[in-house]
Amino acid sequence: MSVEPGKGIKTPGADEIEVHDARAIGVDDDFDRSLRPSTLEDFVNQVQVTEQLGIFIEAARRREEPLDHVLLAGPPGLGKTSLAHIIALELGVGMVQTAGPALERKADIAAFLTALEPGSVFFIDEIHRLGRAVEETLYPAMEDRRLPVVLGQGAGARTVTLDLPAFTLIGATTRTGLLTTPLRDRFGVSHRLEHYEPGDLGTIVRRSAKIFEIEVEDGGAEAIASRSRGTPRVANRLLRRVRDFAEVRGEGVVTDEVASEALEMFEVDAAGLDRHDRQLLETMASKFAGGPVGLSTLAIAVGEEADTIEDVFEPYLLQQGLIKRTPRGRVLTERGYEHIGLALPEGHASLF
Ligand SMILES: Nc1ncnc2c1ncn2[C@@H]1O[C@H](COP(=O)(O)OP(=O)(O)OP(=O)(O)O)[C@@H](O)[C@H]1O
Ligand SMILES: [Mg+2]
Repeated sequence: MSVEPGKGIKTPGADEIEVHDARAIGVDDDFDRSLRPSTLEDFVNQVQVTEQLGIFIEAARRREEPLDHVLLAGPPGLGKTSLAHIIALELGVGMVQTAGPALERKADIAAFLTALEPGSVFFIDEIHRLGRAVEETLYPAMEDRRLPVVLGQGAGARTVTLDLPAFTLIGATTRTGLLTTPLRDRFGVSHRLEHYEPGDLGTIVRRSAKIFEIEVEDGGAEAIASRSRGTPRVANRLLRRVRDFAEVRGEGVVTDEVASEALEMFEVDAAGLDRHDRQLLETMASKFAGGPVGLSTLAIAVGEEADTIEDVFEPYLLQQGLIKRTPRGRVLTERGYEHIGLALPEGHASLF
């Protein structure tokens, strides 16, 4: 456990979080952290979310009560962790952070719960990956701040109930579908973050450029924004790559031209798709005649985890209408075919 200086925020060591996909979590951690907005006002767009949260936070502060438990859902890199930090900062309370896969046994979660400072935020990332027993321990803790603990073993075992301090649980998940109903129902506040519009991503790029003292022209910011898959983390990462390019090949200034040239070299196309995305579309066309193809079959064919495909690749490809989900599997759409420069074959599934 380490404590971030001055913030009272504890984060688990890297080994406590299971990194199952380099594009989704972990790799850009330091970078993410330095760019993380620290107030609701700084958090670009998602206005419905920030407005509502602002009201709930203010009300909780006035009543001097903890904020209701908050569930944040949405694809990777849209700001769930950032929002959790912001909520703790705006409430003026400490935050303890862990992740679903790190909580293996009931004792793991009991250790966290009993050590919470009154009123603080307990943040569980990847909450859909909690084990059953751990999840069931959370129910009474969330509802009545009770923690049943079994003392002793065998015939002599007995259960005592510990009272917990008041706290706010913030759960983040990329997959609401995997959350059990009893758990989902115990969150009083629930928000889903959506992909960002290029205009908002442009704002985020300019903000990051300022923090890193990178000179970016509006055209350069727009070029990056429009190829960022609607995702702030991707926008920030592309900015960093483009800066390298601008320093080595250009004058250091990120112009529209420099950005476009750099992104082309990094194989990020006009729609923001990278080599892996296109490989997925191409595999669907060449090996499965455009589908329908089951997720696990597709995963094996492209050499990725099914989870990664579902969490990281699909949300954007679906949103762009390049693929679609059907009860029989994934189907490459006409747009998808167009994107990889192929015509839709006759009698193709997406025609029906
Ligand atoms: N609304 C926003 N305004 C400004 N920056 C943002 C916003 N949302 C996200 N970011 C930036 O994007 C980066 C990634 O955000 P964050 O780590 O909060 O995403 P996440 O949803 O928790 O992702 P994951 O599911 O992978 O954990 C952060 O460094 C932050 O700077
Ligand atoms: Mg996160």
